[in-house]
Amino acid sequence: MEPCATSEWMVPLPTGIPIEVDLGCARGHFLEAMAHLYPNRFFLGVERLKLRYQKTLRRVNSLTNATVWWMDSRQAVETLLPRAGIHTIHISFPDPWPKRRHYRRRLVSSEFLQKCASALTSSGNLRLMTDHPGYFAAMQAAAKACNEFSEEKWENNAEFPLTEFQKRFIVSGAPIYCLVLRKT
Ligand SMILES: C[S@@+](CC[C@H](N)C(=O)[O-])C[C@H]1O[C@@H](n2cnc3c(N)ncnc32)[C@H](O)[C@@H]1O
Repeated sequence: MEPCATSEWMVPLPTGIPIEVDLGCARGHFLEAMAHLYPNRFFLGVERLKLRYQKTLRRVNSLTNATVWWMDSRQAVETLLPRAGIHTIHISFPDPWPKRRHYRRRLVSSEFLQKCASALTSSGNLRLMTDHPGYFAAMQAAAKACNEFSEEKWENNAEFPLTEFQKRFIVSGAPIYCLVLRKT
């Protein structure tokens, strides 16, 4: 069965509180931790793999300030997120597609960042992490080309719990490249 765009299981997003979106939320560890840390914000996870979506759903099902959608992040950002309605978008360790012939499958491009900018509030921000230096350089170039963001300093403190993959990369000693983009 393929993920579907809109259906009865999609909890609508609330209004009047800041919304944060975790694109490619995997099994929802970060989503759940953020929802506990910030009860006055609402958290939406987006995941295209059914099993991971289901695991996230079980994880956040009892929380009133988090939900997950089973779909492609592109579809969520392009057609379903409210315009100028999202406070923060997190994209942590998107699939790097390291082979040149697969670059076009990468999620982050200047076109995609443009769509993210439309979904973000006027001072909204986008937080990106990757372990792949080539993808990181491509993300920085895409941000420049899209012309909607300014780069900010990454503050890595207790404000943000570690994501599942971030923990793995820390344990393995792999470098992690971080980028915060503020909508201008
Ligand atoms: C490398 S994992 C990182 C998971 C998590 N963000 C973390 O930091 O622990 C990438 C996740 O993004 C999901 N994913 C990849 N491309 C996606 C897309 N276009 N739409 C939604 N999910 C996607 C994958 O299924 C996977 O769960």
